[in-house]
Amino acid sequence: MNITILGTGQVGATLGKALAAVDHAIMYGSRTPQAARVQTLLADTHPTAQAAGLQTAIDWADLVIIALAADAALTVVPTLNLAGKVVIDATNNIGWENGPVMGVDTSMGELLSASQPDAWWVKCFNTFGIEHVSDPQFSGAKADMLLCGDSAEAKVAASNLCRQLGFNPIHVGGMRYARQLEHLCVLWIQLATQGGLGRDFAFKLVGK
Ligand SMILES: NC(=O)c1ccc[n+]([C@@H]2O[C@H](COP(=O)([O-])OP(=O)(O)OC[C@H]3O[C@@H](n4cnc5c(N)ncnc54)[C@H](OP(=O)(O)O)[C@@H]3O)[C@@H](O)[C@H]2O)c1
Repeated sequence: MNITILGTGQVGATLGKALAAVDHAIMYGSRTPQAARVQTLLADTHPTAQAAGLQTAIDWADLVIIALAADAALTVVPTLNLAGKVVIDATNNIGWENGPVMGVDTSMGELLSASQPDAWWVKCFNTFGIEHVSDPQFSGAKADMLLCGDSAEAKVAASNLCRQLGFNPIHVGGMRYARQLEHLCVLWIQLATQGGLGRDFAFKLVGK
């Protein structure tokens, strides 16, 4: 697929490299696609990786991943045209009050998807440290990737990416469950920091 990633920070770069490694064509959407930092990221991602302005990158894509800083996502996403695209929201909005807390009352997934109702939204890739996208094996098991959204087709597309990356995708339900997935990230950060676990863990459901 042609996959556009909006954002060239740690999340965008890590997802771009991992998805290029499983043979997707990658374009980063950036405010500064010509910047030396972005050109270095292209070289690190794949010889065919590209960068462009946000809307140009969206227009090229079969699937778009939002990997923007939270405040930027809330400001910028409503100004774009995402109609008809499958869009994965990987953002979190985290505050800090003696520990990690949610920075919005509802969820980024609900706010962003409501701002672009003609796109097919999925919440995914937000529940633990993004570095694990490049190695999702934990004690011999695949980490679970919880995802939610209101479009069955979009969830299948996101699940396929998760499987290609080596995760076990789990469909949670509609986009209203983005709240739970984003709270799960708060829990992950709490465990990683004040819980003393560090960043080297992910979530796994176990069945009988
Ligand atoms: N770090 C993790 O392990 C992790 C895991 C899951 C989810 N998340 C979430 O994923 C998102 C991205 O995380 P990150 O650490 O990669 O974030 P980041 O480095 O703070 O920002 C990502 C990108 O957002 C773009 N951006 C920033 N301000 C902007 C503005 N005003 N207008 C337009 N674009 C702007 C920048 O891209 P350009 O400079 O190229 O325009 C920047 O590289 C966050 O919401 C984070 O909470 C993080």
